[in-house]
Formats: sequence, C-alpha cells, structure tokens
Amino acid sequence: ASLRALVAALPKVELHVHLVGSARPGTVAALARRHPGSGVPTDPAELARWFTFRDFDHFLTVYWAVQSLLRDRADIHELVVGLAADLARQNCRYAEVTVTPYNHLLDGMPGDELLSGLASGRAEAAAEHGVELAWCFDIPGEKGTKAGRETLVFALRERPEGLVSFGLGGPEVGVGRAQFAPFFTAAREAGLRSVPHAGETTGPATVWSAVHDLGADRVGHGIGSATDPRLLEYLRERDIALEVCPTSNVRTRQVASIGAHPVRRLLDHGVPVTLNTDDPPMFGATLDGEYLAVASALGLTPAEIADLARASVRASFLPEPRRTALL
Ligand code: HPA
Ligand code: ZN
Repeated sequence: ASLRALVAALPKVELHVHLVGSARPGTVAALARRHPGSGVPTDPAELARWFTFRDFDHFLTVYWAVQSLLRDRADIHELVVGLAADLARQNCRYAEVTVTPYNHLLDGMPGDELLSGLASGRAEAAAEHGVELAWCFDIPGEKGTKAGRETLVFALRERPEGLVSFGLGGPEVGVGRAQFAPFFTAAREAGLRSVPHAGETTGPATVWSAVHDLGADRVGHGIGSATDPRLLEYLRERDIALEVCPTSNVRTRQVASIGAHPVRRLLDHGVPVTLNTDDPPMFGATLDGEYLAVASALGLTPAEIADLARASVRASFLPEPRRTALL
C-alpha cells in the first residue's frame, strides 16, 4: 500500500501514449452506439473481452476499428480531455501524445476537424486539468512512403501548437524503417524530434535502423535492443531513451510476463528507460500501474522509483526551463 502511495504521489510524465488507444471503454462504447455496424462492442464488459489480444497484429486490427469510430472534432476533443483527466488523477502533468493524422484523413475526417479537436482538447486539458499536452504526429508505416510524405506535409504545413515530434508506428515486420528516412530528415530540419517505434516486435536491427536512418532522439519500445550489448552501449552513450511500455508488451504477447520483461537488462546496462502506457484502456494499463509493476518485479527502492520518474522528465521534449524545473 505504501508503494502505491509513493507512486501515486510521484510527479510523472507520459512519453508514449496513442490518442486513439487512450479512449476510455465508456467512450468507445458510446462511439460504437453512435455508429452502428462498426463491429465494435457497445457494452463495456464485452469491450474488455474484445480487448484481449492474441498477438500484435490482432491488437492493431482492434485499434484500427476503434480509430474508425472517430468522425469529427467533438470525438477528438472528448478523447483528448478524457486522457488529460486520467493523467491528472495520476499526478501526471505533462504528456507527449501520438496522433496519426494520415489514418484519420483516410477514415474520412477532414484535417481541420482533427486539428480543431486537438487544439480545443489541449486548451481544456490545460485549463480544467492542469495537464500540458504535446503532440507527436506519426506515420502509419504499413501504408508506406505515401503515408510518410503526407504525414510530413500535414505536420509542417499545419504545425499545430504543441507539436514536438515526428514518429513511425504500425507493424514493424515487413515495414523497413529506412524507407522513411527522407521524411524524418525533413521533419528534423524543421525542428521536430524523431521518435520512431522500433524493436517492439522485432530485434536490434530495427533499432539500429531507427537510430542510423531516422536519427531517433528516443525509440518507441526498443526492447528488442536487449539482446545486443553494442546497441545498449550506443543508446547509453548517446543518451537515447527507450519508451518502454511493459504492460503493452505483455498484452500483445511480446513478453510472457512483467517478470520476464527485458526492462531489468536495459536498466542494468545504464540505458535511459522511461515507463509508459502505449494504449492504456486497451491494455488495462495505467501510468501508476506501470511504475508499480516494474517496481515490484525488480524490487526497486523508493529512490530508484523516483529516479525512473526523473528519467522520463529528462528524456521529455519539455522546453527549458520547465524540463529542469521538474527534475
Ligand atoms: N506499436 C505500433 N503501432 C501502434 C502501437 C504500438 O505499440 N500502438 C498503437 N499503434
Ligand atoms: Zn506505441
């Protein structure tokens, strides 16, 4: 109980959470009722069962079904504010949230509806919940270089307030990171930070590509690095943080249990590790829960738990002096 209280009281930041994946079950159920025929359950208990994933690809299929329920600025606004409320309750006052504009555009949502919902949600998050949100616009990798180009164009043309980074998500298998190099180069030249997913479902070669070809400032997941000591040393030396999402990895069956998670190995090698939720309600995850799970599995002391929270602040793209003030 005291560990729980300690984690709850700790100021935390969240660096890897997908907006679509942050939808509360009640919100998903309401959206499903509003859009009959989507195949998404309208009953929260049934939804919980529906959020039981056989593997990573099954998870993505479910994720895309939820995404297709989002139609307008009000839907986006509701998701953003719901996420901020969930974060505020966990003493998390800053989050970098991944949005995939190309997917919403493909699903028929006009770009200005998306941007308007993000902007109004972000304003309400700050005013009502005291939570500062930053955006990562990411490429849905499975849709190839066309998606890469259009995501870049959208990001740089619209440049919404709070946009700090450029990402790459979706499946890794069969979706080489290097093909997206030109878009990451342009995004970085425009001042956005590089945060591709890599090494979530594949090994160290993908993470090497993320750092070499995409200039990763941080790596989404990156747990596939654990088997490559040279890569671990590289990440430590360059201070490239991994956005580790332990519960996500268990729920998509990349890892058998929290106890078997490579996070211990990453920490032992001095790699900057941040703890994150990825798609919290879909995985039954909370930010506090991730800290608790890792603290119990690794037997961390209170000081070590606080160090983990500080590692996230250090790896964040909060502008100075706010970043240092949180440390
Ligand atoms: N990996 C890749 N794509 C995703 C994820 C993830 O963890 N979550 C939502 N889209
Ligand atoms: Zn992710």
